[in-house]
Amino acid sequence: MNVPMTTALKGAEKLKLKQSFNPQRSVQEKIRLNAAWGAIQPIDLDLAHLEKHRIVGHLAGSESLAFDMLRTRLLQQMRDQGWRRVAITSPTAQCGKSTVALNLALSLQREPETRTILLEMDLRRPSLCAMLGASQGSDLAPFLTGESPFEDSSVRVGENLAIAASRTPVAGSAKIIGSSYLPLALSALEDAYAPDLMIFDTPPMLLTHDVMTLAKHVDCVLLVAGADVTTPKQIDQCERDIAGQAQMLGVILNKCRHQGPGYGYGTYD
Ligand SMILES: Nc1ncnc2c1ncn2[C@@H]1O[C@H](COP(=O)(O)OP(=O)(O)O)[C@@H](O)[C@H]1O
Ligand SMILES: [Mg+2]
Repeated sequence: MNVPMTTALKGAEKLKLKQSFNPQRSVQEKIRLNAAWGAIQPIDLDLAHLEKHRIVGHLAGSESLAFDMLRTRLLQQMRDQGWRRVAITSPTAQCGKSTVALNLALSLQREPETRTILLEMDLRRPSLCAMLGASQGSDLAPFLTGESPFEDSSVRVGENLAIAASRTPVAGSAKIIGSSYLPLALSALEDAYAPDLMIFDTPPMLLTHDVMTLAKHVDCVLLVAGADVTTPKQIDQCERDIAGQAQMLGVILNKCRHQGPGYGYGTYD
């Protein structure tokens, strides 16, 4: 069959990208990765606590359908592009970034072939520990500054989800996020744990410079809009600001009051 050169090349490139997303690993590499993930402290999920905080991603049923759909589309898009790092942000505070990030991470955890790391980069207003309700420690900042290994800064859900959050607001967070060490720490994380996906739960875009600094270190961005608080103008501004730094994947409309029986999440495109 005569395949046009451009099509053949595109096919080959795609194959290469897909292989790099889920590479064939040697037995030694698999053993090394299992040991690295095994060294992260496991936590048990407190189901009643999660429910109170609108966390449903761990449930394999209709409750988590919106997040499972988001997961599938995100994985597909990121695999196709050979991307690994996605930031979740919003124009202003309280739109639901952390809720979406944790639900998405827990939905990804139910994909046994996929390893995910969730990093709480909103160091000023951390909330993931409170949402998780885990009593075990997780303290991301010392890892980001090179003072602690990742296994001491994170907790593990199942075999394949690591969550690195902060219990209290971190002093000097802008300095940590702007530090030249940060990209090295992120690369070291990828080398050590080979995550298929790294989710960055970030501060609101229009209130700090942190997201623009972080945008240099991620492949793509998902914007969470709060149905009653976010304006189209704010969304436009975020899209303009991100352009050139990272790919804007889409906007999630959260806190929809007239959503019917679903969870209250709207579109993702
Ligand atoms: N779909 C939703 N419907 C109603 N309340 C929500 C929804 N998503 C999040 N919330 C609530 O809104 C508040 C802010 O959510 P959070 O995820 O911490 O926002 P952010 O990280 O953007 O500041 C929390 O109390 C959370 O439980
Ligand atoms: Mg948050």
